[in-house]
Amino acid sequence: MVSYKELGLVNTKEMFAKAVAGGYAIPAFNFNNMEQLQAIIQASAETKSPVILQVSKGARQYANQTLLRYMAQGAVEYAKELGWEKPQIVLHLDHGDSFETCKSCVDFGFSSVMIDASALPFEENIALTKKVVEYAHQYDVTVEAELGVLAGVEDEVAAEESHYTKPEEVIEFATRTGCDSLAISIGTSHGAYKFTPEQCTVDPQTGRLVPPPLAFDVLHEVEKKLPGFPIVLHGSSSVPQDEVDTINKFGGALKAAVGIPEEQLREAAKSAVCKINIDSDSRLAMTAAVRKVFAEKPAEFDPRKYLGPARENMKKLYMHKIVNVLGSDGKAE
Ligand code: G3H
Ligand code: 13P
Ligand code: ZN
Repeated sequence: MVSYKELGLVNTKEMFAKAVAGGYAIPAFNFNNMEQLQAIIQASAETKSPVILQVSKGARQYANQTLLRYMAQGAVEYAKELGWEKPQIVLHLDHGDSFETCKSCVDFGFSSVMIDASALPFEENIALTKKVVEYAHQYDVTVEAELGVLAGVEDEVAAEESHYTKPEEVIEFATRTGCDSLAISIGTSHGAYKFTPEQCTVDPQTGRLVPPPLAFDVLHEVEKKLPGFPIVLHGSSSVPQDEVDTINKFGGALKAAVGIPEEQLREAAKSAVCKINIDSDSRLAMTAAVRKVFAEKPAEFDPRKYLGPARENMKKLYMHKIVNVLGSDGKAE
């Protein structure tokens, strides 16, 4: 048993309370490799932003849970080396799909876990979430749960269409489970194709697809039912069109990729939404930079020559999210 406290990590309790009160949101960035983690920590340290490092099931399979945990431990030391005296870094399990997975992360030094039982019937979601909460809270590990199902694919959880969270269920769910934060479904979804072209309109000036707005009415209803309770948005990448264009210009084939407009995320961050999950945008930033080097310098074969620019591009993206979208800069001085 390793406590995250020994590793210099923190749980989400205090940072969420401050974010809800302060009208900003904490970035939750997924990581799978060293360059991504370096970029996240550099951006967070430079802006003094609290940050959540997320590990998905895919990441655990790709990079190994043990290695990722030691990387997060190293990230705390790296942050200090960069001059961030008191780093506020959370190591979070993203979309935990069983009690056993959550327990193994709690036992191994994660400071926060998500139990995603959103595809189960209401009572079963409550029972499983409660079991995880009872275990995690013994070790001061915070728990995120989910009500409602996002469109697209949630790891193993495939949903044909989005099922918005039912505001009338949130009080009972939060009370009976004791969860610390709640992910809700208001029209976001995972990946770089969040809406079909049929769901969008076309901006006559740019020719770009404009997605339908998020269901802010559902968010506000949830806020009314659970005043001050930390709300989480998954699937919140904006799919920057300049990165998509770069990828396509240099041999990629991303068609009609569309994300959540930043103005809507800014608006959400001002509400009880205090954690915003971003993964796909980092993948796009990395891919765009790598493709550019490959196309412009075909003789290059030192990975540092393409992963370095990829890291720089991801760092730029993370800084932009922190400063211009979530407003979490300067909140972890
Ligand atoms: O929730 C989805 C995240 O973007 C993680 O995706 O399972 O491919 O690592 P992944
Ligand atoms: P995106 O695919 O929109 O980046 O969402 C990531 C996410 O929700 C991770 O849990
Ligand atoms: Zn997610």
